[in-house]
Formats: sequence, C-alpha cells, structure tokens
Amino acid sequence: MVESEAMVIPIRAEVREVREETRDTKTYKLYIKGKKSEEFRPGQFLMIYLKGFGEIPISLSDLAHDLEDGVLATITVRGVGVVSRYLLSNVREGDVIGVRGPFGRGWPVERAKGKDILIAGGGIGFAPLRPVLRYVWNNREEYGKIFLVYGARSPADMIYRYELESYRSIPNAEIHFTIDRAAEGWKGEVGFVPDVLTKMKLSQQLVSFVCGPEIMMRIASKRLIEAGIDPERIFVSLERRMRCGMGICGTCQFGPYYVCRDGPVFSYSEVYRYMEVEGI
Ligand SMILES: Cc1cc2nc3c(=O)[nH]c(=O)nc-3n(C[C@H](O)[C@H](O)[C@H](O)COP(=O)(O)OP(=O)(O)OC[C@H]3O[C@@H](n4cnc5c(N)ncnc54)[C@H](O)[C@@H]3O)c2cc1C
Ligand code: FES
Repeated sequence: MVESEAMVIPIRAEVREVREETRDTKTYKLYIKGKKSEEFRPGQFLMIYLKGFGEIPISLSDLAHDLEDGVLATITVRGVGVVSRYLLSNVREGDVIGVRGPFGRGWPVERAKGKDILIAGGGIGFAPLRPVLRYVWNNREEYGKIFLVYGARSPADMIYRYELESYRSIPNAEIHFTIDRAAEGWKGEVGFVPDVLTKMKLSQQLVSFVCGPEIMMRIASKRLIEAGIDPERIFVSLERRMRCGMGICGTCQFGPYYVCRDGPVFSYSEVYRYMEVEGI
C-alpha cells in the first residue's frame, strides 16, 4: 500500500485510558500499532473516525510515546456536536476506534530553539499547545524563558487541572492562569488571555504559539505586534471543517491555503489578512 492510501483508510486505535477533564471534555490515550513517536509532532492532528457517525480532526494533546510495536498518542476532545459528543458519551477504555494521520504542519518548536517562548492558550485551544510545553520542558536548556498564559471561562472549565500547578516548577518560566470572570476561591488572574498579555513584559525576540477561539488569536496577535513582536514569529493554529485531512477535497480552504495540508499552524504574517474577513 502506498503512503497516501494508508492515510486515506482509518487504522485501528485502542483506547487505553480515558480521563474526564471537565463536564464537556475528556482526554484519551490511544494505542496505535505500527506507528512510531517520531511520526507525531506537536501541533499535528489525527482524523478520529467513529463508524456510523463520522470523522473529526483532533489535535495531539501530548507528546507521543513509543510502546512495543506501536505508539501511545493523546487527544483531548470537547463535546460540541454529533461526533465529538458521541465520542465523549460512548467510547470507553478497551474500545477500538479508527484514526488517520497524523496530518498537518505543526508548531515550529525546532526553529524556536535558543529563543524565549510564549505559549498562549484559550479554552480547548490549550490542548494542542500542551505538547509544545512538554517538549520545551523536556529540552529546557535549549530554550530561553518560557511564558505561559492559559485562560478558561471558569476554574471548572480548566483542562489538565491535575498538573497545572506543576508547571510552576519549570525553571525560568512565568506562568499565568486566568479565568474570564471572578469566581469564589480563585487565586489566579481574571480577564481574557490578550488582556494578560498586555500586562506582561515580553522580550521582542520571543517566538509565540497562540491557540484558542479565532477572535482570541486575532486580538492576542495584535497585542503581541503592538509589543514589538514580528508577526513572522507569532504562530496560530486554525480550525476549519475537514473531510480528507490531507489536501485533496478542498473542504478546509482558507484564502490560498488548505488548513489541513498547509497548516493548521500558520505564522500570523501568512494568515492575518484572511483572519480579518468575516466568514472565511
Ligand atoms: C486541525 C484541527 C484541530 C482540532 N483539534 C481539536 C482538539 O484538540 N480538541 C477538540 O475538542 N476539538 C478540536 N478541533 C475541533 C473539532 O474538530 C470539532 O469540534 C469537531 O469537528 C466538531 O464535530 P462534531 O461532529 O462533534 O460537531 P458538528 O455536529 O459537526 O458541529 C457542532 C458545532 O461545531 C461547529 N464546528 C464543527 N466543526 C468545526 C470546526 N472544525 N471548527 C469550528 N467549528 C466547528 C459547527 O459549526 C457547529 O456549530 C480541531 C479542529 C481542527 C480543524
Ligand atoms: S480537508 Fe480536504 S483539503 Fe483539507
């Protein structure tokens, strides 16, 4: 079978672990036989196939780990519609689902070596950034300062709550957790991610990785540009409806790009003019 055929036909993935994150979000660890961790890069996505329901693109939410004869890949899914809600309600440990991929251009973590890093995630948009944080943490001496801003609607909407505090032990890192509106008992910050960015002292040589609702990415990128950061060093991950996931069908067209093949990670300088247009 040629490589492209292998990417068109879903392969079996065994659900090894399911973890409830919030009332509408779960994290799944999937064992995929015959794959190797080096094929999976932060920022890439898998097409998750549920027989009889459909297929959806979901980002890798952790670094992949090699196991005997295969790989353990992690995804975090928020239930918003038909396929994602079916997954959350019905797929359990031991079940087998279909996957294709990984697909797409990921975050340029290698190119960012030697530089300060900003990771700014809003809501479920923090999931595709988590492998970036892990990678930079694992290779700590190869990067400058890490700035992390993670925002959610409320404390109960924060994903990975069981590990967030451990991020504070990352050497040479500035960590901000923020929620949209004040809540009882909350000790972190209050306000949207772009507002937190405005208050921070960021170096102009920073490489920024931003993911969240499109409006958040747009405003955050503008704030970073105002702070003197070159749009070529601001990276965003875009979401569009997808079908093939590999540049064949055109469903995910965005300006001159196919998000699945040319992205989902783009520099802001590549996409800002299309992000300004309502409805595309
Ligand atoms: C590259 C990429 C990575 C993604 N990573 C993640 C992830 O890590 N975790 C996660 O929970 N979700 C992720 N998504 C979003 C996820 O693919 C959609 O939520 C999912 O396809 C919705 O399908 P559904 O059948 O559940 O909902 P549907 O019933 O198809 O739709 C429900 C609602 O969601 C909207 N919607 C559907 N698809 C999209 C989309 N692609 N973008 C924006 N709105 C959409 C619809 O307009 C509708 O309002 C990602 C999307 C892309 C393109
Ligand atoms: S989803 Fe088919 S070209 Fe992108």
